[in-house]
Amino acid sequence: MYSKFAQQYDEVIQGNIYNALFERPNLQAMLGDIKEKNILDLGCGSGVYAGYFLSEGAASVTCLDFSAEMVNIVKNKFNKRVSAYAQDLSEGLPKEADGQYDVIVCPLVIHYLKDLTALFSDVYRVLKPGGYMAFSTHHPFADFECSTSGNYFDTELVQEEWNTVGTPVQVNFYRRPLVEITNAVTNAGLSITQISEGQVSETIKQTCQQTYERLRKHPNFIFIKCQK
Ligand SMILES: C[S@@+](CC[C@H](N)C(=O)[O-])C[C@H]1O[C@@H](n2cnc3c(N)ncnc32)[C@H](O)[C@@H]1O
Repeated sequence: MYSKFAQQYDEVIQGNIYNALFERPNLQAMLGDIKEKNILDLGCGSGVYAGYFLSEGAASVTCLDFSAEMVNIVKNKFNKRVSAYAQDLSEGLPKEADGQYDVIVCPLVIHYLKDLTALFSDVYRVLKPGGYMAFSTHHPFADFECSTSGNYFDTELVQEEWNTVGTPVQVNFYRRPLVEITNAVTNAGLSITQISEGQVSETIKQTCQQTYERLRKHPNFIFIKCQK
C-alpha cells in the first residue's frame, strides 16, 4: 500500500489525527533536543520526520524505506539535505557503518517486520555509545482485537482493510505480544529508558470529539525509547 499510495499517504499524514496530532507529537516529545545530531530515520515514508529534523537543526539526516516510491518523494523534497535509499529493514542495516548515529527513529514500522532480531542488532551496532533510539508501533493490546488465533502470545500476520488514504486498502502487518518487542530491544544490548502509551491533546479534542474519546480510553500506539 505504501508504494502504490505513496503520494496520497504523504498528503493525508500532513494534518490527520492519528499521525500528525497523535503519533508525531508523542514520539517527537521522546526525542528531546536533536540539534546537531546525526539522525537515522528507519521506515521514513514520505519524509515528514526528516522535515522536522532539518527544521530542528539536525547535523545530518539519513532516511531508509522499503518503498522506492517513498524514497523518491524524500529525495525530491529535500535533495542533498538528506541522504535516502531503499532498504528492507527485516535484513537489518547492511549498508550502515558502526557507531555513527546519535539518534535513530523508527515511527510506525516494526509491525511490518516478521522478525525484529536483525533490525535491533544493527540499531545497536550503528548507534554511537550513549546514542538512543525512539520508535512507535501498534499497541499490542489494541492489536489483540485483530487476533485470529485468540492467543495473545502468538505472533501472527493480520490482514485488515484501512481507509487511511481515503480509499479502502488491504494492509498486512504482524501483531505480537509486548514482551517480543521488549526482548528484541534488550537482547540486542539496548536499555529501555522510557515507555509511553501516548498523551491525547486538546487539539485532538477540538478536531474530533469521538476520536478523542476513543484514544483517551483505548490504547492505540506504544512509544519506546532505548539507549546504547
Ligand atoms: C505507516 S508508514 C510510516 C512512515 C513514516 N515513518 C511516518 O511516520 O510517516 C510505514 C512505512 O514503513 C515502510 N516499510 C514497511 N515495511 C518495511 C520494511 N520491511 N523495510 C523498510 N521499510 C518498510 C513503508 O514503506 C512505509 O513507508
